[in-house]
This record gives sequence, C-alpha cells and structure tokens, in this order.
Amino acid sequence: SAFRREGLVWRCRLNPDTKALQVSIPRHPALHAVLAGEVTIPCFVTYVWPGDSSRRRAALGTPRVKWSFVAEGREREILVARGQRVKVSEPYRRRASLPAFPRHDTNASLLLTELRPNDSGIYRCRVQHGIEDGHDVLHLKVKGVVFHYREGSARYAYTFAEARAACARLGASIATPEQLYAAYRSGYEQCDAGWLADQTVRYPIHTPREPCYGDMNGVPGVRNYGVVDPQDMYDVYCYAQDLAGEIFLETAPDKFTLAEAAARCRALGATLATTGQLYAAWSSGLDSCSPGWLADGSVRYPIVTPRERCGGSLPGVKSIFLFRNQTGFPDADSRYDAYCFRGKGKGTWMLPGSSLGCLDWVGCTAVAPRA
Ligand SMILES: *[C@@H]1O[C@H](CO)[C@@H](O)[C@H](O)[C@H]1NC(C)=O
Ligand SMILES: *[C@@H]1O[C@H](CO)[C@@H](O)[C@H](O)[C@H]1NC(C)=O
Ligand SMILES: *[C@@H]1O[C@H](CO)[C@@H](O)[C@H](O)[C@H]1NC(C)=O
Repeated sequence: SAFRREGLVWRCRLNPDTKALQVSIPRHPALHAVLAGEVTIPCFVTYVWPGDSSRRRAALGTPRVKWSFVAEGREREILVARGQRVKVSEPYRRRASLPAFPRHDTNASLLLTELRPNDSGIYRCRVQHGIEDGHDVLHLKVKGVVFHYREGSARYAYTFAEARAACARLGASIATPEQLYAAYRSGYEQCDAGWLADQTVRYPIHTPREPCYGDMNGVPGVRNYGVVDPQDMYDVYCYAQDLAGEIFLETAPDKFTLAEAAARCRALGATLATTGQLYAAWSSGLDSCSPGWLADGSVRYPIVTPRERCGGSLPGVKSIFLFRNQTGFPDADSRYDAYCFRGKGKGTWMLPGSSLGCLDWVGCTAVAPRA
C-alpha cells in the first residue's frame, strides 16, 4: 500500500499485528501557524475491530489522551485528559485545550493559542484505551519574527508614521503588542523603546537593570509607555513572516562597497535582501558568520548556533554599528559581503528535520523525493 506523508510517497506492508486502535494526525491540508496566533493540531482515533466495536469500546472504559511536545531531545507533557478531567501542565495553562474531547471521544485535536517562537517542534498525540494504545506525531513550525529596528543615523528617530513606513520598506510590518508579547514569552529582550501598531511604545525585558526599568522597576515584563503622541520619537518593532524566495551570501576577495554589493546581486538576477527578509530567513534556520550588506545600507549576519567569535553567546541577527553606543550604519564605502534575495513567487518554508509516524506500517521506504 502506498501513501503520501511529509511530502514523500511511502510504500509499506500492513503490519500483521495491527492494533485495534489507531491514532493518526492527518497532514493535509498542511498546518499553518503564525506568531501570536492559534493552531488546532488534529488527532483522530479509529477503532478497527471487526464486528460490533461499540460494545468492545464501551467495555474498555474512558480513553485517556496525552499530548506532549518534543524539542532538544526532551519530551514535555502539555496535557492529559481522561473523560472530563483535564490536567494542563503549568507552561501551557490557559493556552492548551481539547475543544472536542470527550464530547467526541474519537477527536483528540489540540487547540494551542498565543503561539510563541519556541512552540516550533514535534507534537505527539497519544491515546490509551484499556490495554490498547497508539500515537502519532507532527512537526509544527511557528512562522513570524519580531525585531527591533533603528534608523541608520540615530537612536529614537522615528515618529509613529515614520516607524510604520520604516517597517514597510524592510518588507515587514509594524509589530502588534500580541506579537511582541509572544516573542517576549520565548525569551526576547531589548532595552530600547519602540513603536507598535496600536501607537503604544513598549520594550521586552527579562533581566531588569538600571536603564531598563521603564514602568515596572525590578520585575521582568514588557515595559509599556501606553499610547504616545504620534510626533514623539522612538525606535520601532517590526514583524516579518514569509520569506517568498531565498537568501544567499555573495562574497569576493576584496568584498563589496554598498553600491558594488547591490550591483553584484542585480547581476545574479536578485536584489540586496531587506532586513525583514534576513530576519525571516534567520527564524527559519539561516546561520552565517559573515557580515553582509542589506538593502537599507545596514550590515548584519544571522546566527542560530551561537559562537563566541560570531557575535557572542546569544543567537540572533547581529548588526555592525558605526559607534559603540549601537547607532549608525557603516559607511557606504566600507567593504563587506552581500546578502542577496531571489524571489520565488510562492513562499516556502524548509522544516529542519522531518518526523515520520510510520506506526502501524512496517518496512517503509521513501520512493519519491520531496515534491
Ligand atoms: C475535531 O475537533 C476540532 C476542534 O474542535 C474541530 O475543528 C474539527 O472539525 C473536529 N474534526 C472532526 C472530524 O470532527
Ligand atoms: C520558551 O522560552 C521560555 C523563555 O526562555 C521558557 O521559559 C520556556 O520553557 C520555553 N518553552 C519551551 C517549550 O521550550
Ligand atoms: C552615539 O555616539 C555618537 C558618536 O559618538 C554620537 O554622535 C551620538 O549622539 C550617540 N548617540 C546616543 C543615543 O548616545
């Protein structure tokens, strides 16, 4: 028997020991999840007993559903449900629920809200019913990244209208408070006040310290100046989601000035990448220790796996500033590599690694490459 899963065609023999209960997460249509949004991860139970299965099911009592999350080699419990009793683990409190179960006891779909960047990973649905059990897994990628942006010459140089325009020029949009909060919940920290879409000014702080107290003194949280006069000047938080194409690094023995970098990308049928595109690429796994020109005249490089000689101990998009106080884009005549962008029409996201739940099948082999 052949079926498609994870973009591959698999040919399998049915396991002679096939269980009476099968748990499956359908892959189609594909799941799309975005930062601060919500997702329903489907999970269905099928009973494959011959004859009158409802009587056998009733004899087994209530099914037990367990969802867990696998990242960095660790499996963490999200929730466990048996009948009406649902236990949600602390980090998922108020964010995770089973909308259909147990009313529909074969629908164990999980609803996860207020999605954060580090909700990306593998989800496992496990159902136990009497002595029968089964499970299936799905890789979820939460798209979208919030980033702090500062004008080329100075700190706090944007009115509200200019802040919106600056994000748009980067191929991004001004971030909403929900998006900034979701990024904060995943560890994002930045001690610079920036405009958000609702005309408030905020910044995310986990480690309170002298210049970063804002309205909160010594506690962690997103600092909030409230709704501010649109003519006041701040930095901005932008949001980038889809990378509708590919970013590649161009280099030459003498590297490039800003003008030469733009010319080199054009000669390759591409353009200098925008800062928003570089952040989107970073959030889907681009890692490069070479500082390169971007379309706004800034010089940056994306680090996923931190190395001391590549901008320190934290992951992130690193920027080269003219001054020690983190202002100023480099002089246009200085020499760096170039990040070029080539559009591809529709956006595609490469998932790092892919999980295959080949559960009641044995001897599976991939017979077709990724479509
Ligand atoms: C299962 O439950 C989810 C969440 O309520 C719902 O969106 C979905 O339509 C249900 N699927 C079926 C086949 O009942
Ligand atoms: C996400 O990041 C936050 C902050 O660093 C951390 O407390 C939380 O445990 C992380 N969640 C997961 C699932 O890794
Ligand atoms: C940063 O440093 C530059 C050069 O020393 C100076 O002109 C600028 O005013 C400083 N900006 C801030 C915000 O301190």
